[in-house]
Amino acid sequence: MPHPSTTRFDRVWGRVPRLAYGADYNPEQWDPATWREDTALMREAGVNLVSLGIFAWSWLEPEPGRLDFTGMDAVIGLLHDSGISVDLATPTAAPPRWFSHAHPDSLPVTAENVRLAPGSRQTYCPSSPAYREHAVRITSALAERYGDHPAVVMWHVGNEYGNANAHCFCDTSAAAFRTWLHTEYGRDLTALNDRWGTSFWGMRYSAWDQVGPPRTSTGSLPPAQWLDFRRFSDAEHLSCYRAERDAIRPHSPGRPITTNLMTGNFAEADYWRWSREVDIVANDHYLNAEDEHRTAELAFAADLTRGLAGGRPWLLMEHSTSAVQWQPRNLAKAAGEMARNSLTHVARGADGVLFFQWRQSAFGAEQWHSAMLPHGGTKTRIWREAAALGASVARVAEVAGSVCEPAQIALAWDYDAWWALELPDRPSRDMVYREELRGWHRALWTAGLRCDIVPAPGRGLEPSVLPREAADTDNSEADDRPKDAEAPYRLLLVPSLYAVAPGTAEALAAFAAAGGHVVVGPFSGVTDLDDRIFPGPYPGALREVLGLTVDEFLPLAADERTSLDDGSTGRTWAERVVPAADTAVDARFTDGPAAGGPALLSRSLGLGTVRYAATRLNDASLRCLLPRWATAAGCAPALPGSGDGVEVTRRTGPTGSWLFAVNHTVTPALLPATGYELLAGQPVEGELTVPPGGVAVVREDPA
Ligand code: GAL
Repeated sequence: MPHPSTTRFDRVWGRVPRLAYGADYNPEQWDPATWREDTALMREAGVNLVSLGIFAWSWLEPEPGRLDFTGMDAVIGLLHDSGISVDLATPTAAPPRWFSHAHPDSLPVTAENVRLAPGSRQTYCPSSPAYREHAVRITSALAERYGDHPAVVMWHVGNEYGNANAHCFCDTSAAAFRTWLHTEYGRDLTALNDRWGTSFWGMRYSAWDQVGPPRTSTGSLPPAQWLDFRRFSDAEHLSCYRAERDAIRPHSPGRPITTNLMTGNFAEADYWRWSREVDIVANDHYLNAEDEHRTAELAFAADLTRGLAGGRPWLLMEHSTSAVQWQPRNLAKAAGEMARNSLTHVARGADGVLFFQWRQSAFGAEQWHSAMLPHGGTKTRIWREAAALGASVARVAEVAGSVCEPAQIALAWDYDAWWALELPDRPSRDMVYREELRGWHRALWTAGLRCDIVPAPGRGLEPSVLPREAADTDNSEADDRPKDAEAPYRLLLVPSLYAVAPGTAEALAAFAAAGGHVVVGPFSGVTDLDDRIFPGPYPGALREVLGLTVDEFLPLAADERTSLDDGSTGRTWAERVVPAADTAVDARFTDGPAAGGPALLSRSLGLGTVRYAATRLNDASLRCLLPRWATAAGCAPALPGSGDGVEVTRRTGPTGSWLFAVNHTVTPALLPATGYELLAGQPVEGELTVPPGGVAVVREDPA
């Protein structure tokens, strides 16, 4: 079997420099003399790729229909002459003021029926025909002009779809939503009434024209209406992306087309769907500077992005060199932190590291956001670190195209479950999907155990979750995704999968039957994808596979904790669980509303096991239990030296393997390695020392 990096997915990258290093470049903020200085300094910093002109629509078309490419021609020419490749943006995230004034009905409307004014970016309704027409028009003009320009190596469509305009509640959206619902419900209004549960409070629709977006009313709306509206809104943004992508494609063969996702925290897009529509998965990732778990968060976001990329290399399209400007307190990154963060992403599969933005703005909303070239120019710490990082990226460029060694643990991530769990009117606002998933991931990270993030079982979305025995014999050619990246998982973690698709229980049972081990977290399998509670005892969809029923869900008060007799601690949540005859109780609640009842349960199923946790385990408990369950599932131990703030990962390719060690701690880390350390340019014979806050990348000796 060819190595993954020789598959079609590697060819998709075309002439994109790898490892890519660079930033968003917004030349419309500067004069031509500055452009010349910029390209010279970019070379000095090792920049080889810039995302160009993301918000440049009004620069390119200052008046309706008057296209002016003079500036863009000059900038692309300068970049080309400097050997810097261009990821050319379509500027459609920022429609010009003239457009908004000519088409006021393209401005988004809030749930309270307030039409937003022009003046910022993403001031468009994704269903607006005028917006769509003009977006494709400017995109086509750019693609015709620059599609085969030798400097243009890839395309950046729009920007962070939905970030500021996730939902629009205008009449155009309402009509588009009805059309979407017609398809979804086969024009059957009774089916819609049933699935939305509109007999509650007597809200049944008697005609289609009464159906619309979940506009603000006196109180709560049907949860299923919100779920469908979110799916619809996401589909509208995706169709805007597709229209531009398809307009570019014929003019720019061989150049990958993508858009920048926000996999870390954006709740309004189903990125499993988006990732199938982009040639290269690209992610923007910003840390919350005051997040005490921000180091583990980096690994989480990178693992999620790699999962969305199906294990293939991906691109870190944006992060910050230091502070952002949009948090309550915008803390600077400490010395070395930028490099550590960037290389953490590379260690977890990124084939490029780019920033927002190249030159720090002198004016405008983001003038206090850090950049590669700060206000103070090249005499600054940030500049020195950015230039040093450029050199580091070049030194490790040989890892390009290699993939992360597959993990044996899979963590299921699902957007429908996320959306449904966090609707209003749930048992507890403290059941926060992303926090729960982050907590499970962080416990593995602390123990040095790697995991891949995969679609929830039963979604029919690849990569499938296969136990080792099945994966080893899998010859399926359903797609040419690298099979090495389709990990032979032994342990499948399913925290708080509240809403489930049909087939989820069967998929879990099949995984366990074939020898896989499953751990399901609290409040899972409770509703279908319309948020309808399954009939019979909880958790309707999963009670058979889990071998238990839940008599009652018992949320805890904000600061309340519940103790388990194995020493673990739960928070937020407890359940009164009734085990089936063949289900073992591994730990009981010793206090709290479920005192005396089962808290951790397990049963054998086929060749594997299924476990259930009936509470949100706190960090310390997850740190203790997850490694234990991983060992019981036969997972290999963490790479030596990995854990407690030292990340050790491996990328492999046809020409070799590379060990990445990122030391987030304040003491030196020692780990076994033999080969050649690329950053310092030194042989490593048996033992590697990674200084506090440092990073090492060892090309391993084949032995
Ligand atoms: C991103 C956005 C960039 C810039 C950055 C600041 O969300 O794509 O254009 O605004 O945030 O952190």
